[in-house]
Amino acid sequence: MTLHVFREGEGVPLVLLHGFPLDHRMWLAVAAGLPGDHPVLAMDLPGTPGYADDLPEPSIEASADAVATAMAEAGIGRAVVAGMSMGGYVALALTERHPDLVAALALVDTKSTADAPEARANRLRIADEAERGDTVAPVRPMSGTLVGATTRATRPAVGAQIAEWIEDQVPAGIAWSQRAMAARPDRGDVLARFTGPVTVVVGDEDELTPPAGAEQLAALAHARLVVVPHAGHMAAIEQPDDVAAALADLVQRAESQPS
Ligand code: MLT
Repeated sequence: MTLHVFREGEGVPLVLLHGFPLDHRMWLAVAAGLPGDHPVLAMDLPGTPGYADDLPEPSIEASADAVATAMAEAGIGRAVVAGMSMGGYVALALTERHPDLVAALALVDTKSTADAPEARANRLRIADEAERGDTVAPVRPMSGTLVGATTRATRPAVGAQIAEWIEDQVPAGIAWSQRAMAARPDRGDVLARFTGPVTVVVGDEDELTPPAGAEQLAALAHARLVVVPHAGHMAAIEQPDDVAAALADLVQRAESQPS
């Protein structure tokens, strides 16, 4: 089971795509705070433990196709798709490859650009280390850097929860996701061409995909920009109610569009 049903309901479903190196659980608090009665589902993307024995060649396109397959299996023809960081890369690839499935897009603490050569090399090094050592150790330090300065200083339990979820991941999946992200192209043009409603969400303390980049992302798509106070890259975990409100607003905008 890769597509987890958080809530059954009526209307346009909301499909949530997680960041790296996490899984669908990063959306639990957002789902709990979502108003309305539309269906809410969250995907476990390729690279998470359920796929460890059955992974295609690493690519974000393969992840997007896995989302399309899971949506078809769940009987979902069209959804509001929200992707956090790596999930945002997948959401843009889904929009490119399966445009009819995407009614609206939420891009949460993410970007549309490809990696610079140094970032790509670093990903491939981490992938090799995780695989060679059969360990998640190379991504363990991320539990501290993914959250913002305020969360780090005042709510250590949030970082501890992320650290636990990272320990649950599998080294082969970590390596797969890093290689997939390293190979992704720039998809700014996909976003610029998308005609549905778009919301860009960013934590004001996001050090990995900072607010200045989110402003540029939002400008590409004439998107609604939501800057979440006291949150880093993990705004969806650090301030879930703010992220839930932004997603609920997007679902409403999608529902008022002609289908
Ligand atoms: C994530 O949160 O998904 C990662 O920061 C994505 C990335 O490594 O680019």
